[in-house]
Parts: sequence; C-alpha cells; structure tokens
Amino acid sequence: MKIIHLSAECYPIAKVGGLADVVGAFPKYQSNKNITSEVIMPLYDNKFSEQNSFQTIYSGQLNLGSEILDFEIQTLETNTLDFTVYFVKIPDLLYVDYVYSFDDTDRFLAFQIAALDWMLTWKEKPSIIHCHDHHVGLIPFMLQESFKYESLNKISNILTIHNAQYQGSFSHDKVNLIPEFNFNNVGLLDWGEVINPLASAIKCAWGVTTVSPGYMEELKLKANGLEDLLRHESAKCVGILNGIDSEVWNPETDSYIVKNFSNSRVISGRKANKEWLCKEFNFDAKKPLFAFIGRLVGEKGADLLPEVFEKSLQNKNISILLLGSGQDDVEAKLSSLKENHEGSYNAYIGYDEKLSHIIYAGADFLLMPSRVEPCGLNQMYALRYGLIPIVREVGGLKDTIIDIADGGFGITHKEVETEQIVHAIERATELYQNKKQFNKIRKYSMTIDHSWDVSAAEYLNLYQSLKK
Ligand code: ADP
Ligand code: GLC
Repeated sequence: MKIIHLSAECYPIAKVGGLADVVGAFPKYQSNKNITSEVIMPLYDNKFSEQNSFQTIYSGQLNLGSEILDFEIQTLETNTLDFTVYFVKIPDLLYVDYVYSFDDTDRFLAFQIAALDWMLTWKEKPSIIHCHDHHVGLIPFMLQESFKYESLNKISNILTIHNAQYQGSFSHDKVNLIPEFNFNNVGLLDWGEVINPLASAIKCAWGVTTVSPGYMEELKLKANGLEDLLRHESAKCVGILNGIDSEVWNPETDSYIVKNFSNSRVISGRKANKEWLCKEFNFDAKKPLFAFIGRLVGEKGADLLPEVFEKSLQNKNISILLLGSGQDDVEAKLSSLKENHEGSYNAYIGYDEKLSHIIYAGADFLLMPSRVEPCGLNQMYALRYGLIPIVREVGGLKDTIIDIADGGFGITHKEVETEQIVHAIERATELYQNKKQFNKIRKYSMTIDHSWDVSAAEYLNLYQSLKK
C-alpha cells in the first residue's frame, strides 16, 4: 500500500505549528514492510532548503487559469529524513520565504495542481491520498470533478481537519484557476457563496478525520460555519487522536535540552533544566515555574494571559515564562508586562524550537487555556517530559488530560475565564508545595504512551474501509 500525504507543513522542513509535527512523524510510524508512506509538500526558500541539496526528478508546466507556470518535483540528494518527501518547487510563487501569507489561494492552488499533474505521470498510482487541512482541500474535488484527473478518480482520498477555524475561502471570481470541470457541480466547491476549500473537501473526500474524538463532536455544534455540513456528512467523519513522535520528543535523548533524563531520574534531570531556564530568564529556581508555549491568538486564550499573569503574579512565590508569537497587541502587552515583574515574569516573543524543548524539560507547569484545541501536542509533549499541564477542558485537551482531583495527572478548568485560570494556577502552586504528590505525578505522566502506534492502526483501518 502506498500512502501519499499532502501538506503545507512538515517538521523539520517547515513548521508553523502542530500540523508540521504530525506530518513530520505520522509517515514514519505508518511505514512498514507492506506500507510506504510519503509526503508531497511545497519547497520554501527557508533554512531547510538553504542547508540541503536537492535533485530534480520531474519538470513540468502547469496552468493556473490563463497563466503557465514552470514547476519541478525535487527530492533530497541525501535523505536525512525517515521517509521520502517530494518537494514541489514553483519559482517566485511557492518558493518564497514564508509558509502562509496574503497570497495563499494562488500559491496552494498551484501546489495542488502541480502535485496532481505529476501524479498523472506515475506508473503505479498511490492507494491513498491523504490531505491535511484546507491548503490541500481542493484535491478531493479535483480528483472527482476535473476532467484532466479522471485517471486518478478511483484513488481513495481522505481529509484530516487539524483546525476548522481556517478554511481558505476565496471568491468565485477565481473559479477559473481550478482545472476544468462540469460546471453543474460547482456547488461542491461552495459554502456561503464563496469557494471554501475545507467545506469542499468535507463534501468530496471519501473519509474525513479530525485530530481528536472530542473535537469531532464539538465541530458538529460549532465549526466556524461548517457545523451543519459536518453533521450532514457525519457518516464518513471520525475523530482519531494524534500521536507524538516519541523519538524526537524523548527526554532521554533530546539533544536540545540541558540534561537528559529518564523516568527514574526525573527530579534531578528536570532540576538541571529548570536551573538553566531560571538563570537565563532571571528567576528564583525554588519557586514553581509556569510556562506558556504557543501561538498568541484567541484560539489559545492568549488575549487573557496579560490579565491572568498580572493577577497571578500578585503571589510573589511563583514565576512565569512565556514563549510565543502572534497577534501584535497581545505580543505588546506580554512584553510590557516584563517591566513591572522583573525576576518573576519573562517572555521570549518569537519562535525558538530549542527553547521550547528546554521549557518542556524544565518548567513545572504548562498553561494551555485554549478556547479551541483540535488536538494539542504541547500537553502530550509535557506529559512525556514530566511537566504538569494545566488545560481548559476542550477538544484534544479534554481527551488527554485528567484532573488530579479525579485521580489524574493534570489540572483542568472548564471555561476560558481569567478567574478560572488564576484559580488553576493557585491549585498548581499548592500541588508544588506537596513535593511527594508533585513528584509522583511527574513520574507517572512520563509513563503515559501517546506514541503514534495506536493512531496509525486506527488510520489503517479507516483507509481499508474507504468506499466510494
Ligand atoms: P497549534 O498547531 O495549534 O499551534 P499544537 O499544540 O498542535 O498547536 O502544536 C504546537 C507546536 O508548535 C508544538 O510543537 C509547540 O512546541 C510548537 N510551538 C508553538 N509556538 C512555539 C514557539 N513560539 N517556539 C517554539 N515552538 C513553538
Ligand atoms: C492544529 C490544531 C492543534 C493540533 C495540530 C495538529 O494546529 O490547532 O490543536 O494539535 O493542528 O493536528
């Protein structure tokens, strides 16, 4: 069986968020002697492309409306990854130094067309085309409806929704960019009088998954306008929890962290990493260290953080460290908070993979007050490193974290409200004082298995059940 994943992101090539982590890990765990799992993604002009050499295995031209664009399919000259990645290089349009921006419609349409045009030339077609998020959401429609891809229309395809907030909608004025199809079926592209790639994929894909069971249920009630559609298509929809790459995220071998540790060395290992963080960010290592890592957007509850931190820092016995970037106003507030709380609050506004690993290894509690969290990987990384998550009961967070009051290993709160988050921080501070329980939970959480194996088996069952 040959599975082809199509995605805008894949770790370590290009990462904006968890989509990259998933596409960068899943194929590795999916592959075995009977299954080959590979990725097709855009080639960006970024650090990865600068540091690696590529060879061209196919050159072609594609039509984007009336425009003709040259494209190449490239692979790594020396494959340092655990699976094969095919890169679509489209000079000027796709080969740029960003993943997402204002021109995503044209860029990702050209990417999808190039990928399918190339697939037309394959002798052996894939068994499954697995599309991730709206950036490749027009593939199921094109496979089914575009005349030129008729020879591919028997290939089973699925859509995984990593985040239904983003749908990639664009005006019908651009419909001519999509390779010619029977116009009677234009409705399959439409949702709310615009072309909506995510909605179109939900309509046309043979199967639809979300990245946790809880999120699938939530989407049927609230999906940024797609709830009716998801309810209507519910027979082909299923929620499968993401796994994590337990090789990349392994405190015993992680080369980013200051000191490696196993479950039996959790106390000393975490202590060394915490001391490094405290020195770097000017904290007292005796106090509990709370951290936030993530995109500073409404979905993550980031807009409430300045107020939450201000209130919580009235307790002089805690420290808070933030790593993130996103909305300008939130970034500005979170930066300016540093002035009044030197020694107990600090923030790195930006993206830093290495620092994120050290925070997982060294902070005491991880805050995730998300409004929406389709799966969430941070809390699963936290568990693997013995960092206790404080999460809002939503989506994948609800599916993976049990409160200590219910015999679990995290702290949960029901709503995204300042008071509730502040209260959760107070509960965590109390837990920190009870060293015996605190250490027991840290040790236990490291034994929880969220590796990809279980989810990969569920996906395999799904692929095998797909019928048109
Ligand atoms: P989302 O994809 O919605 O942003 P996830 O929890 O699925 O959320 O994944 C986020 C991923 O991005 C994790 O690997 C997390 O460690 C990483 N991450 C987010 N923000 C940053 C940042 N500023 N610096 C480093 N890593 C970050
Ligand atoms: C999205 C979601 C996040 C999920 C990730 C990987 O970015 O926001 O919750 O973990 O995709 O599936």
